[in-house]
Amino acid sequence: MIQIKILDFGSLNYDYVYGVEHMVAPGETISSLDMEIFCGGKGLNQAIAAARAGAEVFMAGMVGKDGQLFMDICKENGIDSSFIRQVPGKSGHAIIQLDQNGQNSILLYGGSNRQMTKEYVDEVLNNFEKGDLLLLQNEINLLSYIIDKAYEKGMRILLNPSPYDEKLAACDLTKVSVFLINEIEGEQMAGEKEPDKILDALTEKYPEAEIMLTLGSKGSVYCRMGERYKQDIYKVKAVDTTAAGDTFTGYFAASLLKGMPIEETLKKCAKASAVAVSRKGAADSIPREEEVDGYELL
Ligand code: RIB
Repeated sequence: MIQIKILDFGSLNYDYVYGVEHMVAPGETISSLDMEIFCGGKGLNQAIAAARAGAEVFMAGMVGKDGQLFMDICKENGIDSSFIRQVPGKSGHAIIQLDQNGQNSILLYGGSNRQMTKEYVDEVLNNFEKGDLLLLQNEINLLSYIIDKAYEKGMRILLNPSPYDEKLAACDLTKVSVFLINEIEGEQMAGEKEPDKILDALTEKYPEAEIMLTLGSKGSVYCRMGERYKQDIYKVKAVDTTAAGDTFTGYFAASLLKGMPIEETLKKCAKASAVAVSRKGAADSIPREEEVDGYELL
């Protein structure tokens, strides 16, 4: 039997999380309440979520000379880190303000996440085959090249176009099999605000693609060939919303790998991200499958 694999080609960041009374306004200086450092990056968070959801996951990306911790955290989570390269210079990092309601604002420094080369991409993709899943976000360079090469191989491409920016315009998004987006990215991609209109517009543009749209406190909607499935959120006290979307995405990729029915997938993803929101940190907040199944939600 062919074993389908998940390759997550993405970012690895050190997250410097500053607790604040309110987000700093332009021209304002404030003191933070506390500061903690966590491992994060949308790539790493999603790889951890997929692995903690029970999938076999390979992580590819670049870290700086200060990046050994990322390899260690991959190992602790059963993620194959053999494709991660250590390069001169600094790893990527994020400056995160975290307010009293668990909301955040994030400033990214790309660092080694933006040092991918075509040779490196080819070398990694050579180890994967038709049908394998490729999980991507938008925090690394050469995204367009990675999409083209993976598509040529027949890999199934799952794209979380986050953060959404002009670099995505260079990518041929008709090659994407599954879009995982939140309502802000949906609006940026579709030019519409209403969830149904976002899905209509994206379905028209990418008729073959599956679209997983998360709507914050309003839940999520999955859309495939005109069929739509809705899921409410599980309510928890929000401590830190960082990586809630990454948890949803990683759990979704793992469910796809396992061939789980969509209704069950949506419930599991919603529950896993609710648990992540109830805890501090990015990668650290992501629950394991048994915790998700056993977690007592309000
Ligand atoms: O999605 C949350 C992540 O975004 C953080 O871990 C931070 O590193 C940024 O990549």
